[in-house]
Amino acid sequence: MKTKNIFITLIGLSVMGLAPISQAEMDSSIARGGLLYDKWFAVIGAAKPKDTHPAWPASNTKKKGNATHRCKSCHGWDLKGKDGAYASGSYKTGIKGLRNFAGGSKAKVIAAMKDSTHGYSGKMSAKDFDDLANFVTQGQVDMDKIIDSKSKLVKGGNADRGAAYYNTVCAGCHGADGKLPKEMPALGGLSHKNPWEVVHKIQNGQPDEPMPAMQAFDLQVTTDILAHLQDLPRK
Ligand code: HEC
Ligand code: HEC
Repeated sequence: MKTKNIFITLIGLSVMGLAPISQAEMDSSIARGGLLYDKWFAVIGAAKPKDTHPAWPASNTKKKGNATHRCKSCHGWDLKGKDGAYASGSYKTGIKGLRNFAGGSKAKVIAAMKDSTHGYSGKMSAKDFDDLANFVTQGQVDMDKIIDSKSKLVKGGNADRGAAYYNTVCAGCHGADGKLPKEMPALGGLSHKNPWEVVHKIQNGQPDEPMPAMQAFDLQVTTDILAHLQDLPRK
């Protein structure tokens, strides 16, 4: 085989997920997949979809337009769909969660995204689908382990450690009291209202913003940060 062909074969294999990739590549891929799961069109700089996604149920008239194209809107920040935080409220859809894909088949996740229900074929690149599938199969957080779903309070977080992480990593952008930038809700309030979203953002970052992703660190770091956020002023 010519060198060029070997090269192309290697790229092909890695895109298909057959070639083993390093932990460093995996963590970056998962975090980028998490960002795409959050708001793929912002991550890849595509135009905001204007229509309502065809799989969005007519029974939910509270949301329409681009929000209905985000994976998280149908499957949840907790990836539990109808069995999780979106069992009720403005994102209630009755759509199933993706928890059973944790540790599961990447090929099935990629096939689902390209099926007629989803219709993402041609809207994202092979790399985007690969990162999304890595997130869904390898990057899911078992939210029930770190958040009490009834009280929404963090479980097993060390707020002192969290304050040290927050003050050194986050405060430069979000302020010591979590009230910056002004356009977004205070982190104290958000961490009580939607701790699942906050965990997802800490782990994977914020689409189209230079916010770091803590994906490569132990989940305990994110848990500790959440504990500190829940101690911050809510408004
Ligand atoms: C507008 C709502 C909607 C959005 C947005 C959406 N999905 Fe789905 N998804 C569904 C529905 C409905 C099903 C169930 C389809 C079925 O059971 O046939 C589903 C099922 C799945 C499945 C499981 C398929 C199976 O074999 O069980 C996967 C994996 C999946 N979605 C991934 C994603 C990913 C990743 C994204 C974002 C890129 C996404 N979905 C965005 C509605 C949505
Ligand atoms: C380089 C600056 C920067 C750093 C560092 C940073 N962020 Fe962010 N973060 C942002 C920006 C910008 C946004 C989007 C703000 C907006 O939507 O107006 C954001 C959004 C968020 C959101 C989502 C808020 C929402 O309503 O969508 C959360 C949660 C968050 N950050 C938490 C954190 C935590 C916790 C840390 C530390 C681990 C951190 N951020 C570090 C810049 C940063």
